[in-house]
Amino acid sequence: MTDKHPEIIPTNPAGLARAGEALSRGDLVAFPTETVYGLGADATNDRAVASIYAAKGRPQFNPLIVHVPDLEAGEAIAVFDERAVELAHQFWPGPLTLVLPRRPDSGLSLLVSAGLDSVAVRAPSHPVGQAVLKASGKPIAAPSANRSGAVSPTTPQHVIESLGDRVSMVVAGGKCPVGLESTVLDLTGATPVLLRPGAVLREEIERLIGPIAVFEGHAAGEDAPKSPGQLESHYAPNAAVRLNATSAADDEAFLTFGPDRFIRGGKTRLNLSPQGDLDEAAANLFAHLRSLDQEGARAIAVMPIPDEGLGVAINDRLRRAAAPRG
Ligand code: TXA
Ligand code: MG
Repeated sequence: MTDKHPEIIPTNPAGLARAGEALSRGDLVAFPTETVYGLGADATNDRAVASIYAAKGRPQFNPLIVHVPDLEAGEAIAVFDERAVELAHQFWPGPLTLVLPRRPDSGLSLLVSAGLDSVAVRAPSHPVGQAVLKASGKPIAAPSANRSGAVSPTTPQHVIESLGDRVSMVVAGGKCPVGLESTVLDLTGATPVLLRPGAVLREEIERLIGPIAVFEGHAAGEDAPKSPGQLESHYAPNAAVRLNATSAADDEAFLTFGPDRFIRGGKTRLNLSPQGDLDEAAANLFAHLRSLDQEGARAIAVMPIPDEGLGVAINDRLRRAAAPRG
């Protein structure tokens, strides 16, 4: 990597126009969504989409989410059945991604689906993300703006730390309010399948469209996993991650949750939410993992997080961060 740095673009009309033009030219632009920062490219441009995979070092079989401003734009690229329309009405714009049959006339690069005949679509609610989508006028493919397998970015600084000069522009938007990637729901079959838990909860989806199945990992040896992003090791800091820790050793960093006045141990400590608030914990998770990782600890010990509400998604990310590295 050289010491050339990506430019941080302000969110005024001139900045947004530049981001839109860069996307139209086929350049990569990182931008904020309510979940995490995305690494955006024009989803209709093969060369632009290919450059996302190159910048992330991402396995080619892992398909990308296509971002649109609203349901109408989504319907131009994917086939929405009744369930999909109902979910989009309820949760869009917001942190819910729907995997749907791809329209034959979608105009999307085949690379966004990585060989599948479905496409993942989402309309983000972040005002800056919305403005970037509108400025480009194109469907935008955007995975999290980090190197493949590493911790997702929730600030512009995280994007620069992870991608450096592999991206030329980062649109500023402060800290992402949700902090965990969107819920991914596969609607290509008769039974909806939850592929990735997120801030739109399973219970909320079921209240609207009835029972859904939860993806439990792919069979050993299966070479085209249904949700390839659900590879076991993911979101991994450099340090090892040890879960359900009630104390930490002197060479470990300690990631705590809830009141921790009487907690002992750990060479450094950060609290996800002293009040035990799961939304606050989710928003802090990736930033805290990054900060603790920079302390050079042997491992990061993590206190147990309740497995309810957003805790389900937090625990999903933590399990992957702790999984044996491939
Ligand atoms: O919150 C988010 O969703 C963020 C922001 C930037 O919008 N994006 C994000 O993208 O997390 P990414 O690429 O890191 O994760 C996309 C997930 C992966 O698990 C991928 O396998 C799955 O969506 N996915 C994408 N297309 C799919 C498809 N056609 N079928 C099944 N899974 C798909
Ligand atoms: Mg990711």
